[in-house]
Amino acid sequence: MAIVFITGSADGLGRAAAQSLLDQGHRVVLHARSADRAAALGELGSRAAGIAVGDLRSAEETRRIADQVNAIGRMDAIIHNAGVYSQPDRGATPEGHATTLAINTLAPYMLTALIERPARLVYLSSGLHRGGEGSLTDLDWTTRPWDSAKAYAETKLHVVALALALARLWPEVLSNAVDPGWVQTRMGGTSAPVDIETGQRTQTWLAVSDDPEALVSGRYWHHLRQQEPAEEAVERTFQDKLIARLAELTGVTLP
Ligand SMILES: NC(=O)c1ccc[n+]([C@@H]2O[C@H](COP(=O)([O-])OP(=O)(O)OC[C@H]3O[C@@H](n4cnc5c(N)ncnc54)[C@H](OP(=O)(O)O)[C@@H]3O)[C@@H](O)[C@H]2O)c1
Repeated sequence: MAIVFITGSADGLGRAAAQSLLDQGHRVVLHARSADRAAALGELGSRAAGIAVGDLRSAEETRRIADQVNAIGRMDAIIHNAGVYSQPDRGATPEGHATTLAINTLAPYMLTALIERPARLVYLSSGLHRGGEGSLTDLDWTTRPWDSAKAYAETKLHVVALALALARLWPEVLSNAVDPGWVQTRMGGTSAPVDIETGQRTQTWLAVSDDPEALVSGRYWHHLRQQEPAEEAVERTFQDKLIARLAELTGVTLP
């Protein structure tokens, strides 16, 4: 049985993934943005191997989340699930970054670098990552007028590129990205066509399954099937430039 850390597990796909893994007999370390949100985990919280608390908007709190997970021990798998979709404006995190970038890209990058390396990494992307292709010059939205859909798409491209880069840089780790489809969650809304049970299935399968099909790395998945991601995500130069820029923005380098 594995131990799996899931970011953003107080609600939505993260919570559903936690429930599914616990029901299969695995151990799960949950994550909530605050003590109040951790308390709202209720019965799920009492079944967890631990609950890391911290707001991913903040680099300082993100570092503390990594410390809390490392204190529990080495994870077999980490599902980088937490995310935000439509932010009304760029916002500014405590470190001055665009909110969408900080939560969806900088936080998973930092946690990847700061948490003891697990055997498997899974990053929640989206089919919308295909709209995120383009320049890396204004990653943090300091010069462009705010465009929430484009900002989201870019972050979802970043995590596919990160997942594929890690598959290359850390060959002993299985690193994959998942598009869960348009799922009925707070983010997806009630008219989404995919139920939450189906929406969580691919990432939990990649995290723990010994099915030979799941024991692969550097792939982009949708509903248990591999798909081709956007070209930039696969390009080594794009991946390397992205990682260099994330290191500059966070002050954290990949070990
Ligand atoms: N639903 C879809 O249709 C869809 C489609 C494609 C991709 N995805 C991706 O799937 C992932 C999960 O989405 P979802 O639909 O489950 O969204 P959701 O229902 O809105 O849940 C998001 C989770 O992330 C947490 N979170 C957000 N901002 C945070 C922060 N600053 N600090 C700590 N935790 C934070 C939330 O915590 P709180 O509950 O405390 O806010 C919640 O647990 C996301 O990465 C999303 O981009 C979803």
